[in-house]
Amino acid sequence: MKNLVVLVSGSGSNLQRIIDAIEQGEIPNAKVNLVVADRECFALQRAENAGIPHQMIPRGKNFSESLKKMIPENTNLIVLAGFLSIISKEFCESFPGKIINIHPALLPKFGGKGMWGNHVHKAVLEAKEKESGATVHFVTPGIDEGEIILQKSFEISESETVESLAKKIHEVEYEIFPKAINKVFAD
Ligand code: GRF
Repeated sequence: MKNLVVLVSGSGSNLQRIIDAIEQGEIPNAKVNLVVADRECFALQRAENAGIPHQMIPRGKNFSESLKKMIPENTNLIVLAGFLSIISKEFCESFPGKIINIHPALLPKFGGKGMWGNHVHKAVLEAKEKESGATVHFVTPGIDEGEIILQKSFEISESETVESLAKKIHEVEYEIFPKAINKVFAD
């Protein structure tokens, strides 16, 4: 059995996708043991609805330390699914190769500080990129710099807006996130 902890900050639709993929056997032999949020968010409600233990730790001093204490010993993978806090170098180094994140762009482009949510899509459109997509990658102390596990792109249309891009990217995320988790477990 592979034990997952999922970290969230927002609506949690990617968390939901992971919960559903496990339930449907698309991610075999796995379990989400804990959902941790850094703020009140709908993702916590999704955890509640699925009967998954969940906790909220407010951001601020000692955040990464409190988070570290919360991770059960048997955890195989820590999944950042729309998690907006930056975790410390020490936290990253405590779980080498065991933390992954999903990013709404084609890394290494459009990553780093401030590149989250619609800021990313806006930057992509302003740069007149021909394509965008989503990336699942390992988390290392450098923001959005860890090794890429899986990436999928699509062509940006003439009439693309921040909203249409966000919607398309979420669809791509739902497709690649379970595959990326399986890939990590298979390696
Ligand atoms: C996703 O687009 C993800 O790439 C980014 O935050 C968003 C989370 O969406 N890191 P949701 O909370 O899973 O709906």
